[in-house]
Amino acid sequence: MSFENILVEQRGAVTLITLNRPQALNALNSLVLEDLIAAFAAFEADPSQRCAVLTGAGEKAFAAGADIKEMADKPAADFYSQDFFSRWTSHLVKTTRKPWIAAVNGFALGGGCELAMMADFIIAADTARFGQPEIKLGVAPGMGGSQRLTRAVGKAKAMEMCLTGRMMGAEEAERSGLVARVVPLANLLDEALKTAAEIAAMPPLAAIANKEMVNAAFETTLEQGVLLERRIFQVLTATEDKAEGMAAFIEKRPGVWQGK
Ligand code: CAA
Repeated sequence: MSFENILVEQRGAVTLITLNRPQALNALNSLVLEDLIAAFAAFEADPSQRCAVLTGAGEKAFAAGADIKEMADKPAADFYSQDFFSRWTSHLVKTTRKPWIAAVNGFALGGGCELAMMADFIIAADTARFGQPEIKLGVAPGMGGSQRLTRAVGKAKAMEMCLTGRMMGAEEAERSGLVARVVPLANLLDEALKTAAEIAAMPPLAAIANKEMVNAAFETTLEQGVLLERRIFQVLTATEDKAEGMAAFIEKRPGVWQGK
């Protein structure tokens, strides 16, 4: 599969997807979205692929936001009738059950920050800068930023960032819980791919289940979340990978996973 606006390659069991419009700081237009939807669908459908990494081409930006030039002259009725931005969440978040990591290599602004926050976690370069500057354009976040940023860093920082457009650097982002880890820019891709390979080597059903459980923490009450966790745990005990994992532990050898 080849694309015009993204690059996709398989590195063993890891799919590496690169936003590839560096001349526009990887701004996210409709063509990028369609490419990403197809690439994520292919990743999800391919049993040989167990984890994905999404990054941006060039050293300057992961993505500097939704494409302002595409939105500037678009009539309001079109945004509404097309339910503009809805397909990002429906395809990249809801239908992607396998884990994926955002490797943020520079600016992650507006839709870029929101796209990174759709990932299961973010590994950031020390040069990364996160922000929701939409207010400066007379609008507001539209791809989940007001919700996911607030859940990640809390009301005070999210509100300040949305109201002022202030960018948050990598160190502050790690301290605030927005990113899992910060690494030097030169090591970013290697670190993200290494982490993805580690996840890809885990029992695949358990990986999907762990992702589902952690995500449920943002959607439900503690009691319902703990119940869901217990039920998923119980379901996993019926898998061949559970039998193998526990036998391998007792026999002091690495497990070999079937995804069954
Ligand atoms: N959309 C379209 N083009 C963009 C873009 C965007 N979001 N961000 C950058 N570009 C383009 C610039 O227009 C420029 O193109 P030209 O060379 O053709 O003029 C090129 O990328 C390089 O950008 P700059 O010259 O501006 O680079 P800089 O180093 O001076 O500044 C920056 C970098 C601070 C990131 C600046 O580009 C910037 O502020 N970008 C816009 C950030 C923004 O407002 N993002 C939110 C968009 S709205 C949104 O995302 C809505 C939502 O919630 C989904």
